[in-house]
Amino acid sequence: MNVAYELAPARAQVDTLARPLGFVPTMGALHAGHLRLVEAARRECKSVAVSLFVNPMQFGPQEDYERYPRDFVEDSAKLAQAGVDLLFAPEAQTMYPPDFSTFADVGELGTSFEGAIRPTHFRGVATIVTKLLHVVEADVLYLGQKDAQQAAVLSKLVRDLNFRTRVQIVETVREADGLALSSRNAYLSNDERSAAPTLYAALQTMLKELRSGKSVEQARERAIRALSPQARLEYLDVVDERTFRRLEALRAPAFVIGAAQVGRTRLLDNLWIRM
Ligand code: PAJ
Repeated sequence: MNVAYELAPARAQVDTLARPLGFVPTMGALHAGHLRLVEAARRECKSVAVSLFVNPMQFGPQEDYERYPRDFVEDSAKLAQAGVDLLFAPEAQTMYPPDFSTFADVGELGTSFEGAIRPTHFRGVATIVTKLLHVVEADVLYLGQKDAQQAAVLSKLVRDLNFRTRVQIVETVREADGLALSSRNAYLSNDERSAAPTLYAALQTMLKELRSGKSVEQARERAIRALSPQARLEYLDVVDERTFRRLEALRAPAFVIGAAQVGRTRLLDNLWIRM
């Protein structure tokens, strides 16, 4: 596996890679969810590039940028083992020199749910992924269903701005008890860890109630009962797959989405309703 830290060497490496080239952007602290994306890219493309960059622009001022888990040695060993051809791991000043001032913003889709709670988050995500795609020039961009609104935002970015890249979404990888794998799960205490899977249970209850013909309000009310009292619910809803606008009733394609805070950790999860 080749590792590049600067733009010009990364581009020189990209020029040597066989096409189609699959690309998996990450912020590191890699787990089996990230590796599932790498496996999909490995299977479907001739070469695979991964980026590892904790993007300061997508964190709010009160968020966990400083304490976000970082372990470059372990991450690069996992990626080499997974058969990655190129790892791009820039420093913050490489991506954001002092005079940086241009942003990508997808509009309304980036302002609801996660975007309402984290107002500058999706602008930061869309901007960094634009920049990374201009370095890697990937044929296929691999994204996790786990961050469904992010996947919708980036799919819209790619469509609206005519990137040559195709987006491929990979299903969420979960622990045995249903908790979606996330780098931030490392923050959970033992007690919080046992409360965490109840977000997934609430999503499942919500879906079951919607399928039995309950209104969104009634379904949400039942679903909240499945949540641990330790979890503070932020939202639980059913939305259109592309626009993330609220639906009055269940129809496909859609996401049942939920977010909750357990202790100091935000948990995010969804169910993808395709038919
Ligand atoms: P990060 O949180 O490191 O996630 C990188 C990719 O892994 C994302 O596409 C995410 O949806 C996917 N992923 C995370 N947990 C997963 C799981 N349990 N199952 C399947 N896929 C999972 O998302 C980001 O980084 C950043 O916002 C980024 C896109 C890299 C831009 O900075």
